[in-house]
Amino acid sequence: MYPVDSLRKLIQDVFEQNSLITATWSQLRRRDNVSFTKVQVKPVTLKNQLHYQFAFHYANKVLHENLTPAEALERMTLLCEETFRQGLLCTADADYQILISKKYKVSILTKSPSKTAVDLSHNRKKQYVLEEGVPVSFLVELGIMNDEGRVLARKYDKFRQINRFLEMVQDVIAHLPEGRPLTIVDFGCGKSYLTFALYHYLSVQQRRSLNIIGLDLKADVIAHCNDLARRLHYGDLKFLVGDIADYDELNEVDMVVTLHACDTATDAALEKAVRWGASVILSVPCCQHELYDQVESSVMNPLLSHGILKERFSALATDAIRAKLLDIMGYKTQLLEFIDLENTPKNILIRAVRGQAGQVKDMWAEYTAFRDFIHADPYLERACADLLPVEGSITGGKVDRENLERTAKCNLH
Ligand SMILES: C[S@@+](CC[C@H](N)C(=O)[O-])C[C@H]1O[C@@H](n2cnc3c(N)ncnc32)[C@H](O)[C@@H]1O
Repeated sequence: MYPVDSLRKLIQDVFEQNSLITATWSQLRRRDNVSFTKVQVKPVTLKNQLHYQFAFHYANKVLHENLTPAEALERMTLLCEETFRQGLLCTADADYQILISKKYKVSILTKSPSKTAVDLSHNRKKQYVLEEGVPVSFLVELGIMNDEGRVLARKYDKFRQINRFLEMVQDVIAHLPEGRPLTIVDFGCGKSYLTFALYHYLSVQQRRSLNIIGLDLKADVIAHCNDLARRLHYGDLKFLVGDIADYDELNEVDMVVTLHACDTATDAALEKAVRWGASVILSVPCCQHELYDQVESSVMNPLLSHGILKERFSALATDAIRAKLLDIMGYKTQLLEFIDLENTPKNILIRAVRGQAGQVKDMWAEYTAFRDFIHADPYLERACADLLPVEGSITGGKVDRENLERTAKCNLH
């Protein structure tokens, strides 16, 4: 425990070094003091000058105030000394988790940095694919914006998530085929906020000719999505009821999206994508339970003997395995942060584009060593066994891509 001076000093240092990426203050000291409940702070450039934007979260609105660095330092110091008992400062050097007791004793937990600084030479707002203040019909229909384009406070996280997703799509557009309509499948589309966003971005903003199919197990949700697509006149966006593993209606698909599909439903979607030879895969896994019951390693016992750590490790290992298997099967795979941890722990996006990530022999050796070390028997490897090297027999450095594609198409029908 430190006296409150140490916190003042930390905040001062962070401002002096211009190292703040975001700050979040929460847990009101006294509820009758102020009517906002949380404040988020981030640096922005206004007229080429560094400022800090304070977002004050009220029950049904968010109000913004832009302050100079000196004003921001003063305001932030006041917020932590008088208003809030909990803070998270994410800086370029470290994350600081702050707890302030009723008696103003401070605990500061320093962790390695979880965020990288944004380039402030660009106006951050311009990077948003969908801007607040510009009404977009699907966002209005989904209750995220009002008719004037103002984002509803309680939907702000969703709005940011949609924009983050569209940024990811922006980054992969160059990998999609040109000169013909695109076919895209969204597996486990659910209420389809992101499917509508994808359609709006590609069809309305980018003027690409395309077909998007959303698939989900839930008939009522699918009926609702079809109804909304009709009302929006999104003629080439269709929703179907079905199980990912059984879906066999298409021969060629350019892009597969699967966001928060539960547990091994993600693997079923990845398998389909690989067998189609989709140019792009965007997948945010969720509820990675499969490996939890499999992982075992006496060396890792200090970690695996704690349920919560075992659960997190199993989820991370599942995604590492998925990424490596995709690389082996002809993709270049990256794992990226999807949205902030503050909003949801489901924050890893698997981004895979067709291409050679390395020597298959080496990647397979690396993969099997890891898999065997943790005693995993993952769904994706079992499902794609015919597309993967036969254990012990690999000699060359490459999977025969043509053979893989022939096998893939045969296996789908
Ligand atoms: C958490 S929701 C995610 C919805 C949406 N993709 C999103 O990110 O907002 C997961 C969805 O996946 C669907 N789902 C889970 N397993 C599935 C399967 N095997 N086949 C089709 N849909 C599945 C569920 O019905 C649910 O609607």
